[in-house]
Amino acid sequence: MNVLVTGGAGYIGSHTCVELLDQGFGVVVIDNLVNSSAKAIERIEQITGKHVDFYQEDVRNRAALDRIFEKHDIGCVIHFAGLKAVGESVHMPLEYYDNNLFSTVRLCEAMRDHGVRDIVFSSSATVYSSENPIPWKETYITGNCTSPYGWTKYMSEQILRDTTKAVDDFSVSLLRYFNPIGAHSSGLIGEDPRGIPNNLMPFISQVAIGRRDHLNIFGNDYDTPDGTCVRDYIHVVDLARGHVAAIDYMKKHRGESVFNLGTGMGYSVLDMVKAFERVTGVKIPYEIAPRRPGDLPAFYANPDKSAKLLNWHAQYNLDDMCRDTWAWQSKNPMGYGEE
Ligand code: NAD
Ligand code: UFG
Repeated sequence: MNVLVTGGAGYIGSHTCVELLDQGFGVVVIDNLVNSSAKAIERIEQITGKHVDFYQEDVRNRAALDRIFEKHDIGCVIHFAGLKAVGESVHMPLEYYDNNLFSTVRLCEAMRDHGVRDIVFSSSATVYSSENPIPWKETYITGNCTSPYGWTKYMSEQILRDTTKAVDDFSVSLLRYFNPIGAHSSGLIGEDPRGIPNNLMPFISQVAIGRRDHLNIFGNDYDTPDGTCVRDYIHVVDLARGHVAAIDYMKKHRGESVFNLGTGMGYSVLDMVKAFERVTGVKIPYEIAPRRPGDLPAFYANPDKSAKLLNWHAQYNLDDMCRDTWAWQSKNPMGYGEE
């Protein structure tokens, strides 16, 4: 079966393409490269020894989607394409709503019209309302999002649910990711943020390689064991495999499904710094900075539903995540920018 991967040149998309190809799927990628490099596609081919049909197009371009659906026999879509910087979305809400919502709408229209019925969607733990007790379960309340980015995930989930109700046999698997980190063990693909990294792990690894002189830890006075925020970090390869499990699940279970993809373990910012130092032997200088607006003290997944219904479990631990992040960063100090 061929899978259309939107945003397949990006961080999570590229790792998912590798898992799909390794498991015998054909892969067609559409990505406008707004936050990625075509080199990722070459690297996917290098790792797997298989070909990827790549289209540098915008998912909002309906004519481009039509051409792709006409040319390839697509059995399923995985929709990663989107803008994802939480802080940027607060300053550019219209760009985020335009990109993230219209891409979802155009894609659903094209699927409806070309008879493609299965879609896996990149949602996020950010859709859960902060009032929920932790760990978060799929049945918990969503909404009260704290950023336009979060609202685009919440609204895209709704667009996909409504399409599922209206279009005969349409099925969606909404995957709510916790905090993906790490890289493929080859060190050939990984996370390559543009500009100053927003997220913790890319920042730590850029300090380690000497691109930044220290890490700012945003707050050490939270009500957590060491005062720094706690998150559920998940290896990107485990996350990628969750998508393959979701495709499998949809073969037998039609309609809407929602799954958390997390490990169920919470680690603090200081835990992450210490683990990275222990695994790599590289010291990470840090300073305590003010809290970052919008950060929650702690959240992590209850992954029981994914374990039970998808038969999916995260296999990699924190040391694996740090080792593979470092393999990628040390082999590619400037990400895909350097050859
Ligand atoms: P990424 O930026 O590396 O990948 C997204 C890809 O989509 C990029 O290659 C980008 O060029 C492409 N893209 C964006 N808009 C497009 C458009 N209109 N048309 C075609 N291509 C477009 O990000 P990622 O970390 O791989 O995230 C993938 C998905 O997972 C995103 O939807 C993101 O919101 C979601 N997600 C990510 C995280 C995380 O922490 N990384 C957490 C939860 C959810
Ligand atoms: N942090 C620092 N210094 C940094 C960067 C981050 O101390 O330079 C801290 C943050 O304050 C937070 C923790 O590290 O306490 C994790 O921050 P990230 O930015 O890596 O991750 P978030 O949990 O804030 O957000 C991530 C994704 C969002 C997604 C959310 C929930 O970036 O897209 O998880 O899934 F919505």
